[in-house]
Amino acid sequence: MNLHVAEEPVRRQPGTIKLHGAEAFAAMRKAGRLTAEALDMLVDRVKPGVTTDAIDRAVFEFAMDNGAFPATLYYHGYPRSCCTSINHVVCHGIPTDKPLRDGDIVNIDVTLIVDGWHGDSSRMYGVGEVPRRAMRLLEITHECLERGMAAVRPGNTTGHIGAAIQSFAEAERCSVVRDFCGHGLGQLFHDEPNILHYGRAGEGVVLKPGMLFTIEPMINLGRPHVKILSDGWTAVTRDRSLSAQFEHTIGVTETGVEIFTRSPKGLDFPDRPGAPLPAIL
Ligand code: MF3
Ligand code: CO
Ligand code: CO
Repeated sequence: MNLHVAEEPVRRQPGTIKLHGAEAFAAMRKAGRLTAEALDMLVDRVKPGVTTDAIDRAVFEFAMDNGAFPATLYYHGYPRSCCTSINHVVCHGIPTDKPLRDGDIVNIDVTLIVDGWHGDSSRMYGVGEVPRRAMRLLEITHECLERGMAAVRPGNTTGHIGAAIQSFAEAERCSVVRDFCGHGLGQLFHDEPNILHYGRAGEGVVLKPGMLFTIEPMINLGRPHVKILSDGWTAVTRDRSLSAQFEHTIGVTETGVEIFTRSPKGLDFPDRPGAPLPAIL
């Protein structure tokens, strides 16, 4: 007779931030890498005429082929394997049968669960020929994420991350969305702490080695305010200005930060392909 003893489920414990060890970091490297490979796989698929449903199917199949599960599918009733947020959609856009059009900018956000651990990452993809002011927004938003990650080290606070992002975005006359934030993750999809993309150095939670979280700034060309559409998910800018987002999953190390979702192909910013960026800062 086989008796299976259920493992204690991992739960969110209010007010406590998990500190993870070497085994968790190894598992996050695996989940993060597969998530990055999924986003790499999409680079050649994003083009005018392609539907976001087709992108969603490609993400689902990639997950199945690689022994992973897309964390967004059935998450609080969310119906798809990724989020696709086009132009003035800030985040949580649901894939549809509508084709992408020349000049669109689209964020594709993928979270893959590998051996129980979550890799969560998103990138902006330009569709065909993208207008200059939209390209500028993508460059600013990508730089915001890089500056946010460069502020991660033990002894700094979550406020250092927010301040690095906000000061750069606002110096470029853009605004930081306040209604959504980065988040702790690991065996849970969304855990403590919240990572605000605005604030001041020294505010918030002190960063410690072993913390795992995302940084995922949403930056608007216009005002920061958002509203949620009647589908209950899609967040859009109230003023219909363009919005962009990039996201990585990171871990705090003894000396700085490890970025688990770096593109192995140097495609972290698909429209500015380059040599792979460092995974450890
Ligand atoms: N991947 C998103 C994040 O960065 C969360 C999407 S949850 C969904 O946290 F339900 F909207 F898919
Ligand atoms: Co996230
Ligand atoms: Co995400």
